[in-house]
Amino acid sequence: MPDSIIIRQVQEGDQREWERLWKLFQIFHNVTPTDELSKANFQRFLDPQIKMWAALAIDLETGKALGMVNYFSHITTWATKDKILLNDLYVDETARVRGLGRQLVQYVYDEADKMNTPHVYWCTDYFNHRAQILYTKVGYQTSRVIYRRTGH
Ligand SMILES: CC(C)(COP(=O)(O)OP(=O)(O)OC[C@H]1O[C@@H](n2cnc3c(N)ncnc32)[C@H](O)[C@@H]1OP(=O)(O)O)[C@@H](O)C(=O)NCCC(=O)NCCS
Repeated sequence: MPDSIIIRQVQEGDQREWERLWKLFQIFHNVTPTDELSKANFQRFLDPQIKMWAALAIDLETGKALGMVNYFSHITTWATKDKILLNDLYVDETARVRGLGRQLVQYVYDEADKMNTPHVYWCTDYFNHRAQILYTKVGYQTSRVIYRRTGH
């Protein structure tokens, strides 16, 4: 990752850049973005009462955000410590395969360690081979598959 790029937690002034990447990420998943959800998410990241966070990879030379990771903590019956779900990871098309994705995952690992909740997990589409190239380097594939309630 070039020296001019830093990864840091989102701040109040980042809303526009975060929303830009978030909307690209939703479109990547064939979901139509809404301002309502974008704004609600950003408010939740800044609320210290809510254990949901986001970080950006920012090019200090241009001020542009090149990558985004969103993650949250939740209670579980399987451990006394919370687990961290790395929910969304996106690197701008122009900045891919330069190590940003790996660094964003590492950022979440470091934050999880600081919170003493080191269990970090995530899921991806079975056909997202590009993401899986990265994921097999920073973690391992579990045997679990995801189901959801029909119609919701
Ligand atoms: C998946 C994604 C986040 C990867 O980000 P990235 O910044 O390109 O990934 P990195 O450059 O950190 O790649 C990490 C490793 O995977 C390898 N890799 C990544 N993409 C690759 C590709 N297309 N071809 C070959 N190797 C690739 C890199 O060589 C690198 O290996 P190394 O660290 O040993 O050198 C990015 O492609 C993306 O945003 N895709 C669209 C959104 C998406 O799919 N998000 C995940 C949804 S779950």
